[in-house]
Amino acid sequence: MGMIADSAMVVSAHPLATAVGVDILRAGGHAVDAAVAVHWTLAVVAPWAGNVGGGGLMVVRAADGTVHTLDFRETAPAGAHRDMFLDGTGKPVAKLSLLGHKAIGVPGSVAGLFAVHDSLGRMPMARLIQPAIDLAERGFVLTALEAKELNSKLHSIQASSSRPNAFTARAHWNPGDTLRLPELAHTLTRIRDEGRDGFYRGVTADLIVAEMKRGDGLIDHEDLASYKPVWRKPVTGTYRDLEIITMGPPSSGGIVLIQALKALEDMNLRGAGWQKAATVHRMVEAERRAFADRAKHLGDPDFVHVPSEELLSSSYIAHRMANFDANKATPSKLVNAGDPLAESEHTTHFSIVDEEGNAVACTTTLNGSYGSGVVVDGAGFLMNNEMDDFSIAPNTPNRFGLVGSNANVIAPGKRMLSSMAPTIVTRGGRLFMVLGSPGGATIPTSVLQTVVNLVDHGMTAKQAVSAPRFHHQWKPDTILIEANAIPAADSLTLVNMGHAFKVRPPIGRVDAILVLPDGRLEAGADPRGDDAAAGY
Ligand code: GLY
Repeated sequence: MGMIADSAMVVSAHPLATAVGVDILRAGGHAVDAAVAVHWTLAVVAPWAGNVGGGGLMVVRAADGTVHTLDFRETAPAGAHRDMFLDGTGKPVAKLSLLGHKAIGVPGSVAGLFAVHDSLGRMPMARLIQPAIDLAERGFVLTALEAKELNSKLHSIQASSSRPNAFTARAHWNPGDTLRLPELAHTLTRIRDEGRDGFYRGVTADLIVAEMKRGDGLIDHEDLASYKPVWRKPVTGTYRDLEIITMGPPSSGGIVLIQALKALEDMNLRGAGWQKAATVHRMVEAERRAFADRAKHLGDPDFVHVPSEELLSSSYIAHRMANFDANKATPSKLVNAGDPLAESEHTTHFSIVDEEGNAVACTTTLNGSYGSGVVVDGAGFLMNNEMDDFSIAPNTPNRFGLVGSNANVIAPGKRMLSSMAPTIVTRGGRLFMVLGSPGGATIPTSVLQTVVNLVDHGMTAKQAVSAPRFHHQWKPDTILIEANAIPAADSLTLVNMGHAFKVRPPIGRVDAILVLPDGRLEAGADPRGDDAAAGY
């Protein structure tokens, strides 16, 4: 079993962020207060994904069952256009959507945190942001994983940023080194003192726009001042006796998750066995079809019609599975044509439950690890490279060998399609689980496997998040697996059924909280990272 708490818990990607969240809960804050404080703290101690220069999605379920879902996803700047990442011959310019100033979407996190705090917060914002300011000023000690990740991105940060910065202050970081972020502390102090205007107007906005000008980026003062988060309708569905509450478009994560889960319902997965060929085959075929739909139909609902209800209807999902063959893989080329996206995988998720039973699932991102590599000179934070989540070149394979779709082409002010799936699960109307994951396209499949591990295979929360994972996203037509995820004999059976495999580095980092039958909380902190749970 994972760590158990009597009544309140935080699980996040960093022990310091988890500790800040628990402090807020102990001091009388509720889950939303803790979420806001954890998000600010992750912007300091997990700069590879925690952010003020990125965006995210938050699902809140109050103890009385009321649900709120907030979209603070980045938007394309007003100067963006459909072909901005293509050269004169219509080919994508290498890395232009991934590194440097053009890759940056208008950040949404700061506006998102103020929106959720204005509507649902209890403690003063100054109290919630202060721990992050203190950590940025004092610095924090890098873990082995953090030092390794930062070293692997130093070159990109150096190449993309217009000036030297705190991250590039050393040529090599060692575990145990202290990373201080004084410019970020000043930015957070302006936000503390001036509210969202401390970021979207005034000094910080001037610094962002100056950075953009030096790097030929597009974001201007008007893009920043006009950014708005959006309260969205949650996407909901059932899986067996559970109710799933998750994020709708502009994320595809919730729809893919519910579609794929529902496509499993009429099979006894427990009877077939965990990671056995029949189970993996069924899950892969469900994922294949859900991702094909994602590619064709999903985009920013403020710009394109997304047929969410139709995609989630039981009759449609049954129809999609009608050509499922229990003995043979369905080649992706025979599944509906569509155009999937690839997302880079560095994002971060945290889950919180407070004493009153309020719950928050929040996933937030710069997109790639350290985002665009652009550190805003004088403001000390990294900007996202979320523009790469758009379909940058319709009908042209991107660097992952995938092709994009028309629903997700770039347009000024539009949100790029996401796969983030912050999710809250209830059973009989009572809170059952809070979870989510980083991992780009692997997010919904990581969440799905965690739910299936718990519900169908009877695992504990810790076992469910730790168990090795596999992933299929329609194209490429390959099951991506963690090493030893599937027993050799079952892999052979699956190959004989027509599946192909590729072993890849860890898939997802699920941070979950499970409500036990006696009301206590069990932590599922993913051992793939430095993720930590704490509670009381
Ligand atoms: N950038 C990762 C995602 O939004 O899915």
